[in-house]
Amino acid sequence: MSSAVDDFNRAFHSSERVQGYTHDFYKYPARFSPGFVQFMLDSLTEPGDCVLDPFMGGGTTIVEAAVSGRRAIGSDINELAQFVTRVKTTPLSDQDILEIRRWVWDVRDAVAQIDLAAQPLDVPVKNMPTSAYPFFAVATKLANDLRFPRRRQFAKCVLVRVGQWALDARSTTPKTDVISGEFEKRAERMIDGLREFVTAVQAGGIYKNKITSTRKLMPFSASDSGLVKSLKRHDIRPKLVLTSPPYPGVHMLYHRWQVLGRRETPAPYWIADIRDGHSESYYTMGGRSQRGLRNYFECLSGVFNNLRTIIAPDAAVVQLISFSDAEIQLPLYLNAMNEAGFQEANLGAINSRQTRLVPNRKWYTQRRSCNDAGHEVLLIHRPVCQRSAY
Ligand SMILES: C[S@@+](CC[C@H](N)C(=O)[O-])C[C@H]1O[C@@H](n2cnc3c(N)ncnc32)[C@H](O)[C@@H]1O
Repeated sequence: MSSAVDDFNRAFHSSERVQGYTHDFYKYPARFSPGFVQFMLDSLTEPGDCVLDPFMGGGTTIVEAAVSGRRAIGSDINELAQFVTRVKTTPLSDQDILEIRRWVWDVRDAVAQIDLAAQPLDVPVKNMPTSAYPFFAVATKLANDLRFPRRRQFAKCVLVRVGQWALDARSTTPKTDVISGEFEKRAERMIDGLREFVTAVQAGGIYKNKITSTRKLMPFSASDSGLVKSLKRHDIRPKLVLTSPPYPGVHMLYHRWQVLGRRETPAPYWIADIRDGHSESYYTMGGRSQRGLRNYFECLSGVFNNLRTIIAPDAAVVQLISFSDAEIQLPLYLNAMNEAGFQEANLGAINSRQTRLVPNRKWYTQRRSCNDAGHEVLLIHRPVCQRSAY
């Protein structure tokens, strides 16, 4: 029989590929391992409790919360994060799936008609490879003809995922027929993933038509008052904050794909038809300059100071975080949490400040000799004393 510590170690240090349910709908940068999230939810909450992820990214916390029968609140300033998490947790009807399959066939037929040699290409998306553009232009146009937002969004999420597969971090672009073949396979795989997700949530006692109401997805910055006001208005007191804020000093592209080497494209926003327009520092709470880092820790303290007023008095705050320079930044991080009214805690056998090596990650930090950013540190906090906002 394995102990709680063994179970924790297995979940925390897992290097398994992120898969299952809808987790593979998008490879969100720095995403959680689902097993780790599941372990934390099981250990620190009961079914029906509410968990909050104010930096939800690709929504791993939100998906796993639904599967575990917990309510979840997720927020992120990145529209791509909101888009992906919404699609990952929105069930489709049989009729929706039928219409989406028809769209897949229509795309396949329309793409087969494209005369690639005759294309005088004027690609309106910065750095999108010209050879890939016709496929996505045709497929997104046909997706716009689908009825109901949930069908259109699922279809566009398939295209975003195929685009990520075809373009991101690749030095060459696959040919149109290869992209089209992957697209057909991927659409079926995502339909299966969503079915698997819905079945798992239902097994936990939540009806299919209630799934979207067990999670709230918000567009707020964690540092402004919108999130706190909204939680207060709905009288929601999370028992657990499970999150991974942006990493101080680490260059992380939450909003771009890197194509043909290191050229950055906003293609996912164009495919999903969502707003972009911000620079890296917007998505990383300040950027990598000294000034950016100062801003980061001020912002962090403000975020948690606000959150402290709306979480349950005995709530735990569990964070996974990487640093470009842990020796300098970890004390600043702990200090910011302290100023926000939190103290570090151990949860039974699970100790704060444990470190894991992150498999297969590309990192860019200012000090290239420093390998800190290849690790994640687990931080656990509890509120010192509750300053109630209710
Ligand atoms: C490390 S990622 C979270 C990944 C997530 N745990 C997952 O499993 O996909 C950090 C996220 O914080 C978001 N973010 C950055 N600044 C923010 C802010 N001020 N408010 C809310 N979200 C923010 C970024 O857009 C990014 O999605």
